[in-house]
Amino acid sequence: MEFFEVRGGKPLAGAIAIHSAKNAVLPIMAASILADSQVTIMDCPRIADADNMLDIVRTLGCRTQRIGEDAVIDTAGMQDWVMPETLAKKLRSSIFMMGPILGRFRKATVSHPGGCEIGMRPIDLHLKGLAAMGVTFQEEGGQIHCDGSGMRGGEIHFDYPSVGATENVMMAAALTPGTTWIHNAAREPEIVDLQRFMNAMGARVSGAGTHSIHIVGVKKLHGVCYRPIPDRIVAGTLLAAAAVTGGAITLDNAHAPDLVAVISKLRDMGCEIRHSLSTIELRAPGRLRSFGQLQTLPYPGFPTDMQVQMLALSATAVGTTVITENVFENRFAHAGDFNRMGADIVLHDRTVVIRGVDRLHGARVAARDLRGGAGLVLAALSAEGTTIVEEVQLIDRGYASLERMLAGLGADIRRLCDTA
Ligand code: UD1
Repeated sequence: MEFFEVRGGKPLAGAIAIHSAKNAVLPIMAASILADSQVTIMDCPRIADADNMLDIVRTLGCRTQRIGEDAVIDTAGMQDWVMPETLAKKLRSSIFMMGPILGRFRKATVSHPGGCEIGMRPIDLHLKGLAAMGVTFQEEGGQIHCDGSGMRGGEIHFDYPSVGATENVMMAAALTPGTTWIHNAAREPEIVDLQRFMNAMGARVSGAGTHSIHIVGVKKLHGVCYRPIPDRIVAGTLLAAAAVTGGAITLDNAHAPDLVAVISKLRDMGCEIRHSLSTIELRAPGRLRSFGQLQTLPYPGFPTDMQVQMLALSATAVGTTVITENVFENRFAHAGDFNRMGADIVLHDRTVVIRGVDRLHGARVAARDLRGGAGLVLAALSAEGTTIVEEVQLIDRGYASLERMLAGLGADIRRLCDTA
């Protein structure tokens, strides 16, 4: 079992480039199977979720290859529409495969997806969206058999702007005759990136980034070489790491407009932040102060994927902070771990009240999900003494060697292996 050993108290300094966004790369990999030839995803991060997604498309008959920093998917030999159950359980994003498989074969068999244990994460909106395009479903032993023989353009209104459901319908509609409208669509930057990728393959998608997305079905899509957007959550996590250690760092290949909500909170905490087209510079004050309140919301609201990191910062900020989680119900699973490190956090249902303490101390803690694990690492960077963070494979799902990124900025962190 691998774990991180972190000795806190070192201010981060230096520059680092941000890799492509996990949440852009995963749907782009799924959408690649709509192409009739080879897709190259440039600067594809070496994270567990991306590797699992490549395994999935390979099992469906695609050829995949890692060439340097790029991932190549060749769909020429693809002939299977049944999603392997074991892989689907490993990765929530496997549900994205439903739309593109249907688009390509007019049928699909998928399993209920796995992924981080951060909430119920039902798939009703995905099914509702596809049903509006004429897909019918039959459930049998945990598997969902989808029949798309009557697929046509449809009009969908989502009760909630689900990121995954919006992406699934966009992909299902690309090769489906007629016009599809998605209303109350998610507006995340990764949705805009998916539109850009699909259009580069020859699709006709417009409106991504607004509440309504419009897709005109085309007959075929071709291969392409594409560079996804930088990862705003990795960027935000590194900014938070610099902030909590009283450091000063520069991020290259970072897109500040996607991080407005996070940058605003970090400024409220006393950080100086400057940005240009593709860089963000942060200089932290001696001690952070509370930003008061935070609520997670769909984009452009504060991202749920940055919530635990801000909680980690608030633990030692001057003043009291109140954080409400509106997107996923289980995202305060680490409150007890922070308290074991000396924090003062009280949980009431979907809200936590954090009274800032002077200092955290090292402890043995374990990641329970991807972003929570990153939050524990941030707390460890600011804590006095040594912290052991276990279950780092969960952190590896979304960060290409978080410990290497942080060590490169001067943190005292190493990955060790417990052979016992
Ligand atoms: C995506 C991101 C994830 C991020 C989340 C919210 C990827 C690979 N993952 O996840 O990192 O935290 O957006 O920004 O892009 N819901 C339903 N029914 C559904 C679908 C969703 O009730 O059919 C609920 C979920 O349980 C959750 C909320 O809607 O409470 C948001 O989920 P959604 O926007 O779909 O997130 P994901 O696509 O799973």
